[in-house]
Amino acid sequence: MENFSYKNGALFAEGVSLVELAERHGTPAFVYSRSSIENQWRLYAEAFARRNALICYSVKANSNIALLGLLARLGSGFDIVSGGELERVIAAGGAPAKIVFSGVGKRSDEIRRALEVGIKCFNVESEAELLRLNAIAKEQSVQAPVSIRVNPDIDPGTHPYIATGLRQNKFGVEFDRALAAYQRADSLDNVALLGLDCHLGSQITSIEPYVDAVKKLRRLLSDLEEIGISVQHFNIGGGLGISCGDEAAPDIGTFASAMLDLIPEQYETILEPGRSIIGNAGVLLTRVEYLKTNHEKNFAIVDAAMNDLLRPALYQAWQNILPVVKHEQAAEKQYDIVGPVCESGDFLGLQRELSLRQDDLLAVFSAGAYGFSMSSNYNSRPRAVELLVDRGNERVIRARESVEQLMAGETLLPEEAMH
Ligand code: LLP
Repeated sequence: MENFSYKNGALFAEGVSLVELAERHGTPAFVYSRSSIENQWRLYAEAFARRNALICYSVKANSNIALLGLLARLGSGFDIVSGGELERVIAAGGAPAKIVFSGVGKRSDEIRRALEVGIKCFNVESEAELLRLNAIAKEQSVQAPVSIRVNPDIDPGTHPYIATGLRQNKFGVEFDRALAAYQRADSLDNVALLGLDCHLGSQITSIEPYVDAVKKLRRLLSDLEEIGISVQHFNIGGGLGISCGDEAAPDIGTFASAMLDLIPEQYETILEPGRSIIGNAGVLLTRVEYLKTNHEKNFAIVDAAMNDLLRPALYQAWQNILPVVKHEQAAEKQYDIVGPVCESGDFLGLQRELSLRQDDLLAVFSAGAYGFSMSSNYNSRPRAVELLVDRGNERVIRARESVEQLMAGETLLPEEAMH
């Protein structure tokens, strides 16, 4: 997280003081670095530049339209999983012709809209979806561009909740049935078969699972060619991990070389990275409300909670938590960093050695991806403000939610209904 660094014991984001950001905008606050996001995207683009490749940023990682707009301007494509994400990309100026649409449960209205705007490809996850696509495309007198997402049954060595390419997962078409699915697709008049697709999981810290998957899928491509079916692109999904602490993350250049050595030249390579573009470009800024000690533990009760950042509670994810201002020579103690939500699973970090006082600011690192996008209003907590720092300036890219906004859309029952 090179754009977040200490100067004289205080943490800055691209030269902007996090203490000042907290004073001006309050906490909790997500703070993103523009250059970090753009640099990561460019690393992918450059690493794959020697071949025809399309980097489709995975919108679910962070779907703020200001950030999508920055990526669209760089020429990014987008990987979406819902009609909502489709509208966000369009609102941000993304090109529909560079959108791929994944997901096991695409609704008819979502398919209709995606066909209307002319997306690049549907990553189809079942035969039932193929039939629905064909029927809707027929109504619109068009051909639906399709890639079959094949489940390669490869262990990505990640948390079970974020492994997607194992045979027991709901995702993709089973490897053994893939050929039959392609034949079925080929027989449908309103489907245009464009590609082969897979996704192994997320926060994958080794390149090997990708190598194994691509090798396996290459066999499928040869089998397809033998029966006269050819496709134009090979989508290897997203999932490359980031370093949140001591673990090493794969280097994007090494990953690209390994993939391009294996993917035959005639195919356009598509990627769907999310976390590796934006994860380490953001921190969650939070303030200590109280310090509390019981017979066993020290707690730092902060103003961010599992509704703001669910990953520690849901996946036992470890994210680095550092003081925004370091106390000189103060003794450290071991703290559980917990939020105000009424659940014992509401923690941001456990057993962290820190020197803390009430009202101190803390920064939770690696919070750019799957932070805000997974946040909720649990306990009627308005969602945090999102700030983008850009060459020494900050911009509010999403205002802090108000309690009025939380109740908008709800109505009290009329008097007569109360009896
Ligand atoms: N493509 C597909 C089809 C996906 O399902 C995903 C993520 C991605 C691309 C992007 O993967 P990335 O490059 O971001 O790893 N909420 C979890 C992560 C869930 C990922 C689901 N799919 C977390 O916070 O760890």
